[in-house]
Amino acid sequence: MDERRWSGSGTADAGPSIPPPESFVSRANMREDPREEFDEEWPGCWERAAELLSWETEYDTVLEDDEAPFYRWFDGGKLNAAANCLDRHLEGGAKNRAALRWEGKRGESRTYTYRELAVEVEECAAALSGLGVVEDDVVTLYLPMIPELPVAMLACARIGAPHSVVFAGLSADALSTRIEAANSEYLVTCDGYYRRGDAFNQKGKVDNAVLSVGHDVRATVVVDRLGEDLPHHLGDDQYDYHDLLAAHAGESVEPVARDSRDDLFVMYTSGTTGEPKGVVHATGGYLSYVAWTARAVLDVEPGDTYWCAADIGWITGHSYIVYGPLALGTTTLLYEGTPDYPDRDRLWEIVERNAVDVFYTAPTAVRAFMKWGAEYPESHDLSSLRLLGTVGEPIDPRTWKWYYRHVGGGNCPVVDTWWQTETGGMMLTTLPGVDEMKPGAAGPPLPGIDARVVDPDGEAVDPGEAGSLTIRRPWPGMARTLYGGDDAFVEEYWSRFSDPAAGDWVYDSGDAARVDPDGYVTVLGRTDDVIDVSGRRLSTAELESAIVATEGVAEAAVVAGDGIYAYVSPEQGVDPSRGLPEVIGTNVDDAIGPVARPDRIVFTPDLPKTRSGKIMRRLLGAIARGEDLGDTSALRNPEIVGELRETIGEE
Ligand code: WT7
Repeated sequence: MDERRWSGSGTADAGPSIPPPESFVSRANMREDPREEFDEEWPGCWERAAELLSWETEYDTVLEDDEAPFYRWFDGGKLNAAANCLDRHLEGGAKNRAALRWEGKRGESRTYTYRELAVEVEECAAALSGLGVVEDDVVTLYLPMIPELPVAMLACARIGAPHSVVFAGLSADALSTRIEAANSEYLVTCDGYYRRGDAFNQKGKVDNAVLSVGHDVRATVVVDRLGEDLPHHLGDDQYDYHDLLAAHAGESVEPVARDSRDDLFVMYTSGTTGEPKGVVHATGGYLSYVAWTARAVLDVEPGDTYWCAADIGWITGHSYIVYGPLALGTTTLLYEGTPDYPDRDRLWEIVERNAVDVFYTAPTAVRAFMKWGAEYPESHDLSSLRLLGTVGEPIDPRTWKWYYRHVGGGNCPVVDTWWQTETGGMMLTTLPGVDEMKPGAAGPPLPGIDARVVDPDGEAVDPGEAGSLTIRRPWPGMARTLYGGDDAFVEEYWSRFSDPAAGDWVYDSGDAARVDPDGYVTVLGRTDDVIDVSGRRLSTAELESAIVATEGVAEAAVVAGDGIYAYVSPEQGVDPSRGLPEVIGTNVDDAIGPVARPDRIVFTPDLPKTRSGKIMRRLLGAIARGEDLGDTSALRNPEIVGELRETIGEE
């Protein structure tokens, strides 16, 4: 019996290939397949990525592997990420080009030219320095999708202080865990933000979180997002963002020349243990890689208006809202709201008004658009679009085709990009001006990337067979380590398929996948205790412990279905209909945040278990997704499966 659990919603086999539209190919950034050249020149091929940046000091070598798997890219080089994203675009004609277009929740919009953004970033950098932030201090940023978030990120980068962005929807508990784990003494946050129409108090969460941090938080900067709608009080060591910047108006701050290997940021993500892991990205390799992939895959050009509808609180936003697009000097759009407020055509109205060229989102969003109906995109002029992308989870062929036809009008390639927080940037996807597309498969590995699907012994599996998705050669965007956890880094990603004695290091992605005879990879989901829902990665252990902490709950198992499914068995004599789901929801909100709230809670007297007492999440996942259950002979209590199927079918 295969004990591996593939909890993602694997897609059906990829359909026939679709060639990229000629109108796109004729003007694509990349029109010829560089894969062969990359393989011949590897690792020297990655100079092409480094060349997209401006270096303060040229690097000595492309790749140093003497401390593998702690690889060093562009070693000896010095650069500053903020200078690459801003200063160098100010020379020549670009200073008055829009860098950032912000679309607020209340219909507000704000545009920053490259010059305006650079000025605010320098003021913010001066303010942070003034508060005592020095190079290598970790600054926590707990902000929603407002311009002050990228400003603060770039201000940190300018002074060489790694940022740790915590998604604004995470709870006070989650915030304090991350502040503490990163030993961060500085925080930038806001008074609150609008949720649908209502003012939501963020600062209350922050004050609670800071109280429970074990070390001293020296300064908290508060952006006043809500004004009169939510008056707030500034306590000791708390400063108003706009007052601080005004005090540093017009100041210039020299960008700190960082070693290529120096940290740019930490991003906490879910791991197998339930403890969040601080994935650390180094400056030179990461920035080169996100710039290169944004150019090659998203086809971003300086004159474009580019929109990635993710949140900056996740890696997608770091790489492809902020660093990649700004390094290339394009206009990046920042959207604060939700896709269906005030109405279900909100995104298409924004695309039309801003003449967006490239649009990148998550499959779950596309599934929602599809459910709402084609009349919403069709009621707007979307002819400015030339390329569409998805990221975060598998996209099934039906949804892919709907996106291609109803959003792209059949004229835009769709790139299904597979990557992870740890990979820094895209790894598997078609090159939109080069490769044919197969709906349902992410695509082949990018140039220079050696991805293989292997069996438990590390041997490549035959086409069509499922196995573990591994990467054999290092790549510039790869994480440098886990914050404060070099051993955990090796253990978590490099232990399963590597042979350190032979100097043979293999990266284990934790995903299961299948390759077709043309080398196109379909990603099936996680092999470990992590679930992906809407491009958010959550640890089942963390979620389950939040649920089990609820009085009246005996046991819980969480899987990915159409959203997050929680199977909960109540304690003897407890009637779950008496408010239990609400309490579970609140506990999850408090422990992790509303993003982790189960979409569906299924009560059951028992969970399906193996004879050794292990909960069979694989089965629970199949039940949630209405899939074939396969072999259930290992179960101690097979009857429960039928009961669960019935319960779910009835609801
Ligand atoms: C996990 C990484 C990469 C930024 C967003 C999530 C899943 C990601 C795809 C895709 C199938 C995908 C994987 C991966 N995933 N992209 N195109 N097809 N699955 O970053 O939170 O680090 O999650 O998301 O399971 O391991 P993350």
